[in-house]
Amino acid sequence: MIVSLDPEFTNFVLQQEKSFETWCPESFKTLLGSDNLLTCAGSVHKYTRNLILRVFGPENLRLQLLHEVDRIARTNLVSWVDRSSIDLKLSISSGRKSIMKALKQLLDEKQKNTERQERMDLLSLLIRDLEMEKHGLTEEYVLNVLFSIVFASFETTSTALTVALKFLMDNPAALQELTEEHEQILKARTNPDSGITWEEYKSMKFTSHVSCSYINCYIEGLRLANVTVVMFRKATGDVRVKAYTVPEGWTVMICPSANHLNPATYNDPQVFNPRRWKDISEPSGGSMNFLAFGRGPRYCAGAEFAKLQMAIFLHYLVTKYRWTLVRGGNMVLSPAPQFPNGFHVQVLPK
Ligand code: HEM
Repeated sequence: MIVSLDPEFTNFVLQQEKSFETWCPESFKTLLGSDNLLTCAGSVHKYTRNLILRVFGPENLRLQLLHEVDRIARTNLVSWVDRSSIDLKLSISSGRKSIMKALKQLLDEKQKNTERQERMDLLSLLIRDLEMEKHGLTEEYVLNVLFSIVFASFETTSTALTVALKFLMDNPAALQELTEEHEQILKARTNPDSGITWEEYKSMKFTSHVSCSYINCYIEGLRLANVTVVMFRKATGDVRVKAYTVPEGWTVMICPSANHLNPATYNDPQVFNPRRWKDISEPSGGSMNFLAFGRGPRYCAGAEFAKLQMAIFLHYLVTKYRWTLVRGGNMVLSPAPQFPNGFHVQVLPK
């Protein structure tokens, strides 16, 4: 196995899908199933990725997911207020077996329901194609895709959000700036209690004069405490890279932190400084120096959805609530960000 700590080599590998296919260790396969989304290739990958992007891509984010996430974020935050302490870092507690059982039940129920609405959700789209016997889909593959989405989205999103909150709590000036940015949005509204509109969401993201916009905090948090610690690829043939040859069948383990903490790219790379992104346009699709969502043809299909969830949650948290640390909050990178004593906070209305 080759462990890549070289930014250029890493970028080359991630972008050359023909020379380096995705790969995962046996332990991942036990978890995700042998026939899974993260390692599938060719037309199956193309079909599944397109389907996921239809559900989690910009069009459906605007039409459907924005409102759903808005509703869920508000409801969750309201329920947090009644509790003396909540652990911010919710981890997946059930294993593959119980999640697969729950997904199978959901699939069966939805298949039985003949009065299904034409909705743009992943399960409905997959069932439609399963019933039409499109793309050779099997029930097992559909369940594995659904499980892969739970796996790829849940732990990553909750960790990324907890990490951003941790850095914001440790950097009160950045939190203050972020809060002011979001209060401006409320001031500009006729009804401060109405849900977030698409235009407001876009303004949160693209207001370039705001050095501490949520996206800068989010990206900076992920740069420092990367959630996807490693990515794997396997050489499909002998691949010549500069003066070296990567032999066929060899595995490459990519460590994004080597790019993220490179002092040649980032001044004081260990310091949380959202301002460093102020004049750099958001690295959509990944960049050589920012690989938190991967890069190339396997770039995270849920990246835009993850950013939307983060923006909405933070918007309500900083405009409507204040919070104090009750217990824990100590973060270690081992190598993924972890909170050994939990991260317990009390949330109170402003
Ligand atoms: C902060 C949150 C997230 C992070 C840091 C993250 C990170 C990543 C990374 C690094 C990859 C590339 C893996 C590789 O190249 O080997 C990836 C792929 C993927 N992610 Fe995410 N992800 C996040 C959230 C999500 C969400 C919310 C979803 C689903 C809605 C999702 C779905 C996927 C899928 C389907 C792939 C595979 C794409 C493909 O192979 O074409 N991710 N993610």
